[in-house]
Amino acid sequence: MSKTLTILGLESSCDDTAAAILRQTEGQPAQILASIVHGQNALHADFGGVVPEIAARAHAEKLDVCVEEALSESGVALGEIDAIAVTAGPGLIGGVMSGVMCAKGLSAGLGVPLVGVNHLAGHALTPRLTDQVTFPYLMLLVSGGHCQFLIARGPDDFTRLGGTIDDAPGEAFDKTARLLGLPQPGGPSVEKAARQGDPKRFAFPRPLMDRPGCDLSFSGLKTALLRARDALVADQGGLTETDRNDLCASFQAAVVDVLCKKTSRAIASYMTETPSVPLLAVAGGVAANSAIRAGLETICKDNGLAFTAPPLALCTDNAAMIAYAGLERFKAGHSDDMRLAARPRWPLDKTAPALLGGGKKGAKA
Ligand code: KG4
Ligand code: ZN
Repeated sequence: MSKTLTILGLESSCDDTAAAILRQTEGQPAQILASIVHGQNALHADFGGVVPEIAARAHAEKLDVCVEEALSESGVALGEIDAIAVTAGPGLIGGVMSGVMCAKGLSAGLGVPLVGVNHLAGHALTPRLTDQVTFPYLMLLVSGGHCQFLIARGPDDFTRLGGTIDDAPGEAFDKTARLLGLPQPGGPSVEKAARQGDPKRFAFPRPLMDRPGCDLSFSGLKTALLRARDALVADQGGLTETDRNDLCASFQAAVVDVLCKKTSRAIASYMTETPSVPLLAVAGGVAANSAIRAGLETICKDNGLAFTAPPLALCTDNAAMIAYAGLERFKAGHSDDMRLAARPRWPLDKTAPALLGGGKKGAKA
């Protein structure tokens, strides 16, 4: 008889409280039976960023609601759960602790195993959940909180090729929107304005472009945009719609150039390993940007790689990815006990030097 595992995943490392139920029958793809996400945007809106204490309290209040909704939507009874997977880091410590405590309670109460999951592994393994991709594959995580290139070799085996040394790209999009008076989140509004603009009008810098390796930097670009804006305001007394569109288009062109150049470098490193099915997967909110996606797809095509991006709801923070990463760890024989600790920092690649860039939602790795 084939073995079926049903796993409950919990996520609370930043500003989304989430619970999901995943089921996998041996030899078949895992099925997401429910994925519930309660965001906290409204709670933090007045503060211009995530307030850790408010986030932790909201997670503690919402985790059991998310679990109940996931059970009811999936039609799964608590007694059918075979294991509990939970984000044990990296992230804002109060939120991670809320999730870990909730998972420990469920694990002890139900008498089922507990599996601590690295949040970044959740993102990095999502292409295996959505597209059953095989190791090793190249991964680009690009969001408001993350930016790194990884070679994924196994559920617990990642090599970081490089990452941002300051801001994450989503953060740069959000700041650009703020500087130009466009709505938040900045990514979609900057992309929309950029569609009408001239990407060549402003010669914005391409930071670290000529430096070898795959590290990236986005803070200088933001400063250049601020200067260009201030010069226009000083000259004309304000910005026209054309100015705004051109600033957005020129900014986006610089981000696309930098991401594409560094992706080519990452591909060159990855291809030295002669993977049997060469593939680049991209995840994170910024992967929604069609100019960035088109640039990455072209590079993959030119280099003989397949390209995949999980659906947006699974690119952004969610608990289905945590349940899936937990399932992979559990099947590989790993589980935790009541000593499982919440970790604010937890690099995926233990051998890589620490990244300076934190992203707007707190230092990740
Ligand atoms: O992955 P995500 O939902 O959350 C984390 O940051 O963890 O990513 C959100 C980020 C925001 O900074 C948002 O502005 C950016 O993704 N984003 C985009 C686009 N849609 C969302 N950036 C560029 N272009 C887009 N179309
Ligand atoms: Zn995340």
